[in-house]
Amino acid sequence: MDNVCKLDPVAPDAEIIAKAARIIKRGGTVAFPTETVYGLGANALDDQACKEIFVAKGRQQDNPIIVHVSDFEQIENVTCGLPENTKEVFERIWPGPLTVVLKKKNIGEVPTAGLNTVAIRMPAHRIPLELIRKSGVPIAAPSANKSGSPSPVYAQEVIEDLGDKVDLILDGGPSYFGVESTVIMFKGEEIIMLRPGAFSAEDLKRIFGVKVKFSGQTSGVPISPGMKYRHYAPEKELVLARTEEKILEACKKGNVLFIGSSEMARKVNSDSIVLGSRDDLFEVARNLFPSFRKLDKSPYPMGVIEGFEEKGIGLAIMNRIVKATSGREA
Ligand code: TXA
Ligand code: MG
Repeated sequence: MDNVCKLDPVAPDAEIIAKAARIIKRGGTVAFPTETVYGLGANALDDQACKEIFVAKGRQQDNPIIVHVSDFEQIENVTCGLPENTKEVFERIWPGPLTVVLKKKNIGEVPTAGLNTVAIRMPAHRIPLELIRKSGVPIAAPSANKSGSPSPVYAQEVIEDLGDKVDLILDGGPSYFGVESTVIMFKGEEIIMLRPGAFSAEDLKRIFGVKVKFSGQTSGVPISPGMKYRHYAPEKELVLARTEEKILEACKKGNVLFIGSSEMARKVNSDSIVLGSRDDLFEVARNLFPSFRKLDKSPYPMGVIEGFEEKGIGLAIMNRIVKATSGREA
């Protein structure tokens, strides 16, 4: 593909960043790695450019996009500010995999899907940070997958999903976390977690010193529109098996691919995709979305996936698994 550029994630080539920034400034789209997953970016201040993102992904118009910034000044330009007394905490957390929903200002209807709020995050990755700085504008970027598919952890997955539908793909190697950022909003003295992600609920509670609630919303006007759509799913059938007994039982039926821990993979008698050790949930998270794509490419009609402890990043892992299985359990 001639719209793909390899880039060192630690010391990105300035000329390639400049080329990508020119594309952003003229209203084009650029896919890039972040510490969570790959994003598909456009100038957040240009509604027409943001529309291109929705078209390339096949994304629903009412699902707003996260706006990525490289510094706090940009946050002041597009929001009515961070909640009182939180700036110091955000200065410690950012850049990092946390997104906060704030009251918006000077930003169009397209990236925010007509809401009066905007979701903001400062990614901990040099490629997007330098791209935002060089472009001089905040960059709106959802995950760089076809709508409904698992988020991409590798540039190759972006190429498979979006290929020539985007102007440029920056290949900076695999994303570190493999699950998306945690999305929060402040409500009175509390934090509402709209989407569990790479930043853990335990850390949120500890760092902000307030109560953290998971919205877990299933009805009413969605506060985080994206959570209502089918997401992260492989095309093949996938079922969740929460206990060792259920895993062994489901795998015994044969003709299934097991997806789970190295500990469990040793016990089942079917072919397996090993996500990592149960003791290293970060490794499990990193291998999760790619495993859904591997299942689709495998000869097996169906996958059985192990449940993990909902602790730390495990909460995000289980949230994605439950969505990917549409709630189907063995
Ligand atoms: O890690 C990430 O967050 C990645 C990378 C590329 O930064 N981005 C990402 O974007 O996951 P996306 O579009 O796939 O997910 C954004 C989520 C959706 O659930 C969306 O509904 C929610 O954030 N969101 C965006 N703006 C919002 C707003 N104003 N109010 C409530 N939820 C919002
Ligand atoms: Mg997404």
